[in-house]
Amino acid sequence: MIEESPENLAKIPTHVAIIMDGNGRWALEKGLPRFAGHKAGTENLREVIEASVEFGIQYLTIYAFSTENWKRPQDEIQGLMRIFKTMLDRELNNLHENGVQLRHFGCLDRIDEVLKRKVIEAIELTKDNQTLILNVAFNYGGRDEILRAVQGIVKDGLPAEEVDEKTFSKYLYSANCPDPDLIIRTSGEYRCSNFLIWQGAYSEWYFTPTYWPDFGKEELHQALTAYNQRERRYGEVKKDPDK
Ligand code: FPP
Repeated sequence: MIEESPENLAKIPTHVAIIMDGNGRWALEKGLPRFAGHKAGTENLREVIEASVEFGIQYLTIYAFSTENWKRPQDEIQGLMRIFKTMLDRELNNLHENGVQLRHFGCLDRIDEVLKRKVIEAIELTKDNQTLILNVAFNYGGRDEILRAVQGIVKDGLPAEEVDEKTFSKYLYSANCPDPDLIIRTSGEYRCSNFLIWQGAYSEWYFTPTYWPDFGKEELHQALTAYNQRERRYGEVKKDPDK
């Protein structure tokens, strides 16, 4: 049996991003309400964060709630907001003690005051931690992010010739964060769903049929193993090993 340790991996991606999909189907297949899937999806998140630290990943970005998720039934949205609050109440100290820095990708405008305050306080509390940067994409959409960046550039009056990729990236939520090396999507869906559409231009993708609540350390290791077998070329040609 292959041991799930970082020693078995030659390359560790600096930045891993995850679309945590399949909570609803996980629950329904067990005859449970969808909400139970979201709760279960929170439990294994702790395991994945701990494993990320152990494997030496420096940035982890998780897709918690998209700008399109507001179209879900009201009770599911409220249930998710309650889960996010409980998660912050229950896990923040532990994350802080383990050197996790919380950052937010997205817009807090539509978020209720209590949760908004908790998010802002969590970011402030953990801002100097360096073991793992945990970006929570919450009320996040890639197109929305790009539009906001364009608006910011226009408001700042930047001359068109100064708007290059480097400058543009500074207006995104992910300013100061490297692009994801690896994006994982659970639950057997093969699409990016408006997630990191600028930053993911050259990311490697790992798709798995596993529903998010069942995705743990072992499968994260499998994803990293798959990543180790990829050759990243960024549009160039394969390197000649004799040169
Ligand atoms: C996708 O599953 C999951 C979500 C929209 C919510 C993700 C939230 C969690 C995993 C809870 C924990 C997160 C934090 C940050 C505390 P789905 O509902 O689309 O599943 P389905 O495709 O099977 O319906």
